[in-house]
Amino acid sequence: MNKKPGYVFVWPIGTRIIHWMMALSFTAAFITSFHKNQLHSHVAFGFIFLIILVYRIIWGIVGPRYATFKTFKLRLSELKGYFVEKVRNRWRKIPAGHNPASSWFTVWALIVGTVIVISGLLLYGVEEAKGCFRFLNEDYYQYMDTLTMLHKYASYLFATWVIIHITGVLIEQFWHRTGMAFAMITGYKKTEGEDTKVKRSLSIFAYLMILLAIVTYFFIVSSNYNYLTLQKYTNVDYEEEHPDYYHECGECHVAYPPYLLPRRSWERIMGALDNHFGEEITEANITKLQQASILEYLIQHAAETSKREAAVKTMKSLGERRPKAITKTPYWRETHKHIPKYVYRQKKIKDKSNCAACHRDFKYGNLEDMNILYDF
Ligand code: HEC
Ligand code: HEC
Repeated sequence: MNKKPGYVFVWPIGTRIIHWMMALSFTAAFITSFHKNQLHSHVAFGFIFLIILVYRIIWGIVGPRYATFKTFKLRLSELKGYFVEKVRNRWRKIPAGHNPASSWFTVWALIVGTVIVISGLLLYGVEEAKGCFRFLNEDYYQYMDTLTMLHKYASYLFATWVIIHITGVLIEQFWHRTGMAFAMITGYKKTEGEDTKVKRSLSIFAYLMILLAIVTYFFIVSSNYNYLTLQKYTNVDYEEEHPDYYHECGECHVAYPPYLLPRRSWERIMGALDNHFGEEITEANITKLQQASILEYLIQHAAETSKREAAVKTMKSLGERRPKAITKTPYWRETHKHIPKYVYRQKKIKDKSNCAACHRDFKYGNLEDMNILYDF
């Protein structure tokens, strides 16, 4: 390392790559979280974040000078002293490693980051029934809303933190003129102290973790059916499960997956076929025997019996109500309220009940987020 006068080498290349991978993966995961059908990318970025986070925690224990937790300045008096000095003395000296504010920032970021990745992994398992924790959907489905809240608010907290961090760096850069913004690019800080040296074994460890993060990202985006992305529910072949339901009730619209409405709703629908949304369905169309068998099938597979996200959330939204249409449930209305009315008038969609126009594989009962088509 060439020694630059007035500068100290504080952030080795591994640390810098890690820092930017963390920043980018968080930003990308944050942006993709606003579109349901980008769940796949969201999870892939989340895994980069997770691996980098684990690495950073290990690095904080065994890593080189300036990166370890034991060099952090976490006493409140130090934090106060830091800010008093910052306000009083524009040209104060900065430490080579973490200052009290950035020590606190790092510790908090690691804690909140840990909450984000753990809640995210659990949520993916509990709500989407996907990923390595898909088995949790079975017994813990009732926690999907709690986990969503935790995951969401922890992420907002982290995002707020990032903004404060960037503001702090900009103040250093433009007010105190410490050149802080470039330290994470060049590795050098304008200060006094000893240069950092990284042991070969630690460097190898850092590069392996970077590689692992990148490989994991591509592993996830490459397939919807590998260990990290597989869903517990597979496509249902309704035609095979109940041919009459599939054909008779699928004549005018795709036969709706039974788990989308509760038992009582199916009873009401089947009890009023003579006036079925303006259509008259008689025994000439569907025999009494077929009707009875269809109703039995629907009841056996109604929302009460399912732990899929849509079933659980539909039931929760309904309370005591038992409407005759999926599109009348508060859950459906809530999830579709952002879609402008004119969309439903388009030729390829025609009607809001035409679920299959916007949900790929709808006829197999598949309502995965990543199958939502937004190109209307
Ligand atoms: C003759 C045509 C026809 C047949 C056969 C038919 N339906 Fe329908 N169904 C309709 C129409 C029309 C609507 C109103 C929504 C639309 O425009 O697609 C509808 C709507 C529905 C809805 C509400 C969808 C929503 O908007 O939430 C359900 C549930 C439903 N049908 C169930 C059934 C079942 C169960 C059967 C078999 C017993 C069946 N349908 C057979 C024509 C039909
Ligand atoms: C015009 C296209 C369109 C139609 C028609 C449509 N949906 Fe959707 N649906 C969407 C979009 C877009 C979203 C995601 C909304 C969001 O991003 O919050 C969605 C979300 C959902 C969700 C929530 C998925 C989740 O995991 O959060 C369910 C369940 C759902 N739709 C079921 C249905 C059913 C059942 C029908 C038919 C009765 C239907 N949709 C008709 C576009 C449509």
